[in-house]
Amino acid sequence: MAFSVDDIRKDFPALQQRLEGGKLVYFDNAASAQKPLCVIEKAADFYRRDYSNIHRSAHELSRRATVAFEEARKCVSKHFNAPKNFTAVFTRGATEGLNIVARCYGEKFLKKGDEIILSQMEHHANIVPWQLCAMRTGAEIKAAKILPNGELDMGHLQSLVSPRTKIISIAHASNVLGTINDVQKISEIAKKAGAVFCVDAAQSSPHFLGDISEIGCDFFACSAHKCFGPTGEGALIANTEILNEMDVWQGGGDMIESVSWEKTTFRQAPEKFEAGTPNIAGAVAFARALQYMDSLDIPAARAHEAELLKRATELLEKIEGLRILGNAKNKVPLISFAVKNIHHNDISTMLDANGIAVRSGHHCAEPLMNALGVSGSCRASFAFYNTLEEVEFFAKKLRSAVNLLS
Ligand code: ALA
Repeated sequence: MAFSVDDIRKDFPALQQRLEGGKLVYFDNAASAQKPLCVIEKAADFYRRDYSNIHRSAHELSRRATVAFEEARKCVSKHFNAPKNFTAVFTRGATEGLNIVARCYGEKFLKKGDEIILSQMEHHANIVPWQLCAMRTGAEIKAAKILPNGELDMGHLQSLVSPRTKIISIAHASNVLGTINDVQKISEIAKKAGAVFCVDAAQSSPHFLGDISEIGCDFFACSAHKCFGPTGEGALIANTEILNEMDVWQGGGDMIESVSWEKTTFRQAPEKFEAGTPNIAGAVAFARALQYMDSLDIPAARAHEAELLKRATELLEKIEGLRILGNAKNKVPLISFAVKNIHHNDISTMLDANGIAVRSGHHCAEPLMNALGVSGSCRASFAFYNTLEEVEFFAKKLRSAVNLLS
């Protein structure tokens, strides 16, 4: 299908609205993306017709719901090109996926003196679970530094690797800097060190990145809501053998093989990590969102996103006092920026008054904010459905806001 932004925008009902300040310009995609009608309808249709609990009952609706849920699982694995020996575990999102790795792998296999390598650009979701793991096991965390342009200092990362390195966990793309990390190279480093490699794909997956076979990671965590799917849903896609060696996550129905007062035994992956009734409609709608992404002309969509980023960068660079955080060569389409002597919340409030939605704050990356020497920033993050006209309008309104607030 040829790539036409005008046509694509028609698929997204939320983008059609006007706000008090004017036409909605939605540049908060890295926080959460809007949903195409086919995803909304898929969830609604599922609830209208096929909804029931799964894996439990011998009736028609339960069979239909179980088939839809398991088909969704296959679809997620296929979209991210998971190797045959990988399994997709449905989670509440990337955060839960990373917590499962830290708790069920980290706490089972790490001991005092072992080392976990993260990076300075991680989101709290890829820091705090490891801190909890370190607290409970006595393992140590090391953070690879970033270079002044926001790229990962691969030399520093390599220098942190030692025989004690057991886990490397890194974001594929930074939610603040936009930097796309060379996860294939990091995978090689991890393999050489005999460590497992975990990829936080929350920010890369909405931009058609995330080929697990190519990356060569052991764990891959993503969120549906950033990939144009529902909230409260995601996947941890991982090597099945490793998943089966790990501790279970939560206890409850569907994750057990048999329960008695004397001894309870557990199922294999993925069910061992999916206690209780999962977000069934969420999984079905997630798969539909990924199918929607797959139906686009992906090279054209990526080229369009790159153009949005290039134009926005050119325009923002011209604004006096504005500092772009992160100028890596390979970026996902987002720009975080701080303006001298102006609070980021004041800027985002003024943009909001013009219908422009950006995020402001520390972006759940306080250690990175500290490293950059800022308390917070504004962030404009784009998706394939944004337009160059929106970028121009945003830059114009941003310039006015900066002039007014200076
Ligand atoms: N992690 C999301 C963001 O960067 C919420 O905005």
